[in-house]
Amino acid sequence: MSDPLHTQLCEKLGIEYPVVAFTHCKDVAVAVINAGGFAVLGEAMHTPDQIAADISWIRERIDGKPFGIDLVLPASVPEEKTVEELMAMIPQEQRDYEQMIKEKYNVPDPKEAPDLHTWGGLDQKRALNQLEVIFDEKVPVFASGLGSPAFILDRAHQLGIQVWGLVGKPRQAKKQIDAGVDAVIAQGFDAAGHTGNIGTFSIVPQVVDIARGTGVPVLAGGGVTTGRHLMAALALGADAVWTGSLWLASRESDVNLQLKERLIEAETEDAIWSNCISGYTMRTTRSPWHNEWSKPDAPPVLKPPLQMMLSSDYIQGSLDYQRKDLMTEAAGQGIHYVTEMKPARQILSDLVEEALDVLDGFCGEDED
Ligand SMILES: Cc1cc2nc3c(=O)[nH]c(=O)nc-3n(C[C@H](O)[C@H](O)[C@H](O)COP(=O)(O)O)c2cc1C
Repeated sequence: MSDPLHTQLCEKLGIEYPVVAFTHCKDVAVAVINAGGFAVLGEAMHTPDQIAADISWIRERIDGKPFGIDLVLPASVPEEKTVEELMAMIPQEQRDYEQMIKEKYNVPDPKEAPDLHTWGGLDQKRALNQLEVIFDEKVPVFASGLGSPAFILDRAHQLGIQVWGLVGKPRQAKKQIDAGVDAVIAQGFDAAGHTGNIGTFSIVPQVVDIARGTGVPVLAGGGVTTGRHLMAALALGADAVWTGSLWLASRESDVNLQLKERLIEAETEDAIWSNCISGYTMRTTRSPWHNEWSKPDAPPVLKPPLQMMLSSDYIQGSLDYQRKDLMTEAAGQGIHYVTEMKPARQILSDLVEEALDVLDGFCGEDED
């Protein structure tokens, strides 16, 4: 029998294992790539210069192996606005509510302007400026977390850049595959971050059906934190898994130590789906911010990108002053299985080993 873990995507990328790590941490990305997986670095919160520097840093450490960069390309935000202009668009009612939360929980002010103020999702101009770095650097893979990357396909392909689209609905998958993306990530409701409402077990086989015969590989994302999930994803027809929460508490991860502890303690029901962080539906760990915005007398959550502007001081203040009681982070329902701080290489090998054990269980191990 051929190696069931050596999928078409492994062949296409020249990687050993069908495991893709989405991470905001360069060290995690490098560790996963050098251990035989693939990594996509989330750069939506960085300026073009920072993105270029991060790409060089990674390239120096992976000996020519491929890697990816992820940005967000939301179409629903203003074309161009300064942070000050966006701040001025926040209505008084929501400002007062934020102030009330800050006073009630004694939330400290951030030490510096939050990173979220450079988020590519604030306006279209920021995202387009970030994209230029992807083209200049000819990164091997570009993935787009929010919004369709269809409009960049021609230019990206001319430069030899693969474009992957992240989808939460079958019809988005059909559109992106028809447009010519090189891979599609079917991301289910279980997932950390911005996610739709279709469960991983439902979205993945549907997208696999849509992609059948096109040669476009499908990655399964949302809730994958064990080797059983990996094997199940392959059984559903996926070519690889797309994982985020799995790496948050890894040894290499630059996530705040208190936050790592919070994530290790978190249970599935702590990873809640709400629009109170960014204005889009997003799975993040429960916090006082969530509790207050879910109250019946809370003002309406603002549309993107304003809610993100509003929540960013709370989030940054909690991190700057190590306030574990306030902290929140994007985390998926699979967070239950993130129980210790292991090196990324070990996380990957544990995942692969468990997947192979599952297979042995199905096939029956040789007795002799
Ligand atoms: C801390 C964190 C931040 C994330 N930020 C982004 C992002 O900026 N862009 C994006 O495409 N996906 C982002 N995601 C979602 C991941 O790409 C991925 O779809 C998700 O983590 C998969 O679900 P899982 O966490 O259950 O593995 C983020 C995930 C986490 C855990």
